[in-house]
Amino acid sequence: MAQPITLITGTRKGIGRFLAEHYCDAGHVVYGCSRGEADWDHQNYTHFAADVSDEKQAKQVFSTIRREHGRLDNLLNNAGIASMNHSLLTPISTVEKVLRTNVVG
Ligand SMILES: NC(=O)c1ccc[n+]([C@@H]2O[C@H](COP(=O)([O-])OP(=O)(O)OC[C@H]3O[C@@H](n4cnc5c(N)ncnc54)[C@H](OP(=O)(O)O)[C@@H]3O)[C@@H](O)[C@H]2O)c1
Repeated sequence: MAQPITLITGTRKGIGRFLAEHYCDAGHVVYGCSRGEADWDHQNYTHFAADVSDEKQAKQVFSTIRREHGRLDNLLNNAGIASMNHSLLTPISTVEKVLRTNVVG
């Protein structure tokens, strides 16, 4: 069976990094993205510095995977941010940023 092609967002650190390393070790071809560069690597891993809330950057990720493999088997849309402030003390700019990443992304 061909290696599964798996895209995981938010792989620079945290749960996304753990998931990416897990699926790399399991033999998947793993693509990951986050706004920053990853400071880790794996023979099965390719990192994109891409923001999921930026349509152009997100499309570039999918275009590259389509060009290189012609398919995507799994998408783990893990990238997300949180604001731990009281809702009444949270500026609208923060709310918009959270929605752009967690909902639109
Ligand atoms: N940890 C928890 O207890 C918990 C609980 C409930 C839900 N979650 C959800 O689980 C997910 C992962 O949580 P975590 O604790 O691992 O978070 P984390 O440690 O803060 O990691 C978030 C990851 O997402 C990336 N990221 C953030 N904004 C992005 C964007 N706009 N585009 C692309 N990548 C982006 C970050 O890298 P860059 O900074 O380089 O972009 C980082 O790699 C999140 O969606 C979070 O809301 C976590």
